[in-house]
Amino acid sequence: MYIKLIITVGNIKGGVGKSTLACNIATALSLLSPDSGVLLIDGDKQGSAADFAQSRTDLLGKAGFTCVRAQGKEVVNQVVTMREKFSHIVIDAGGQDNPSLRAGLVVSDIVLVPVAPRSFETWALENMATLIEEATITNPNLKAFGILNLAFPKGSDNDQTHLIIREDYPLLELIEPPVVQRKAFSDAVGQGLCVLEIKPKNHDAIRELGSLLKGIGISEKDIKVIYNGSTKKA
Ligand SMILES: Nc1ncnc2c1ncn2[C@@H]1O[C@H](COP(=O)(O)OP(=O)(O)OP(=O)(O)O)[C@@H](O)[C@H]1O
Ligand SMILES: [Mg+2]
Repeated sequence: MYIKLIITVGNIKGGVGKSTLACNIATALSLLSPDSGVLLIDGDKQGSAADFAQSRTDLLGKAGFTCVRAQGKEVVNQVVTMREKFSHIVIDAGGQDNPSLRAGLVVSDIVLVPVAPRSFETWALENMATLIEEATITNPNLKAFGILNLAFPKGSDNDQTHLIIREDYPLLELIEPPVVQRKAFSDAVGQGLCVLEIKPKNHDAIRELGSLLKGIGISEKDIKVIYNGSTKKA
């Protein structure tokens, strides 16, 4: 039996990979079992996650998960009415301090905050941390994770950003290793695939997604099932 997970992928900062990670997580969880029932809520007016689901359906005949678009308190309504029907719910909350992000934080077990290891992105973390703190007043069990995305393949920037998060934002539990900026991630989402499914396989990217799934509480056993599911489909 799976642990039900309601996860918001959110950060006030734009372009840090919220949609990319939300789509990869939702697709990976949908590979756990054809019946696992994953709901991906696209809370962003841009509709990137919904576009991803459409590309996936065009390519494969079906997305393998249900995707709905919802904004603001409609996100809360979706979660409240759908939580019994789905094993996992992933919310792409969109950029900026928007009602969907605030709504997601109130109804989720987990908020995953992608952070790019660049100055503007780390400076913007303060506002995100405040939003999370405010949300925990009504949702005290909300668990907040940070992950570096669009990380550099080498150099000290990733470590420096980890240090900033550890020292200044202890409410964010860091998931390591970082998700590196890799063509495999952008190519995969562009095709409606998660990085487990794209060919040629990029094993570093696959490992990074595996670590991310483990970090948010997916068991090693289920991660193996996900890998096998993606291999079978490939
Ligand atoms: N790990 C990665 N490697 C390579 N490209 C990435 C990675 N993560 C994200 N990208 C690319 O970076 C761009 C921004 O990613 P994405 O749209 O997921 O960010 P976002 O935070 O959802 O943006 P927005 O705030 O506009 O919603 C996209 O072109 C995406 O393909
Ligand atoms: Mg987005």
